[in-house]
Amino acid sequence: MSRTVYVNGEYLPEEEAKVSIFDRAFLFADGVYEVTSVLGGKLIAFDGHVERLWRSLSELEMSAPCTEDELLEIHRQLIARNGFDEGLIYLQVTRGAADRDFAWTDDLEPGLVLFHQEKRLADNPVAEKGIKVVSIPDERWGRRDIKTVQLLYPSMGKMMAKKAGADDAWMVEDGKVTEGTSNNAYIVKGGKIITRHLGNEILHGITRAAVLRFAREAQMQVEERPFTIDEAKLADEAFFTSASAFVMPVVAIDGDSIGAGTPGGVTKRLREIYLEEVQKAAI
Ligand code: PDD
Repeated sequence: MSRTVYVNGEYLPEEEAKVSIFDRAFLFADGVYEVTSVLGGKLIAFDGHVERLWRSLSELEMSAPCTEDELLEIHRQLIARNGFDEGLIYLQVTRGAADRDFAWTDDLEPGLVLFHQEKRLADNPVAEKGIKVVSIPDERWGRRDIKTVQLLYPSMGKMMAKKAGADDAWMVEDGKVTEGTSNNAYIVKGGKIITRHLGNEILHGITRAAVLRFAREAQMQVEERPFTIDEAKLADEAFFTSASAFVMPVVAIDGDSIGAGTPGGVTKRLREIYLEEVQKAAI
């Protein structure tokens, strides 16, 4: 069935949605994006995603295509017009269309595209058994805190994982794990949750912020520091977080089981708390 999508001011059937071949996102990956989850027809952590979008735009000196209220309305329209209940809404802002030139000018009209994808998120069978990761070198650019659409290396990483019989890759720089191809990485040792500190090396996950807040509120210990693959292999548990997977257990790294090789207790508890809390606050 054809979806209704949003393109530059219009709601259209997906077959009719078109963008310019001169759009700088197409020519230079000059665009930023957000992925927001929807549960029961409501948006999860919408404010956090918009706040990060404004930051990405400002770091790249890109204009905002509309206001926060307008963005909320477009998300809600997509939910209503598609009778959409559970899955993801993808949003992309591009710098706009111009003749191909590495330098940009300030007068471009920003582009805005949104569409949804249905997906079982809350009742996800994968979360019951956990996933396997492989480690790969982090060969992305240096500003991973900006959520840009240049996702070729993460896509290659995902393919490397698949070829190795795993589900995802954890990227390593200077001997330490940065993050997963599209998620933040964690280990649990002696009840303590360990995840890399924020900086330009990783995306500042909206799910990460919420999970760490809920963990601290539940009196769990949290340490924000880098860790190695060897330390992860010796951990009791491992997991990752993202808007599309929430809290997802990781049960093996480079073929070695983590802990008992099944989803750990802290991970399961965090997934439960996260789902409970964010659904209460969904809009
Ligand atoms: N990815 N790190 C990277 C590199 C990511 O691409 C993502 C999100 C995250 C987690 O951020 P958040 O919790 O705000 O979703 C961390 C999205 C889901 C994607 O590209 O589909």
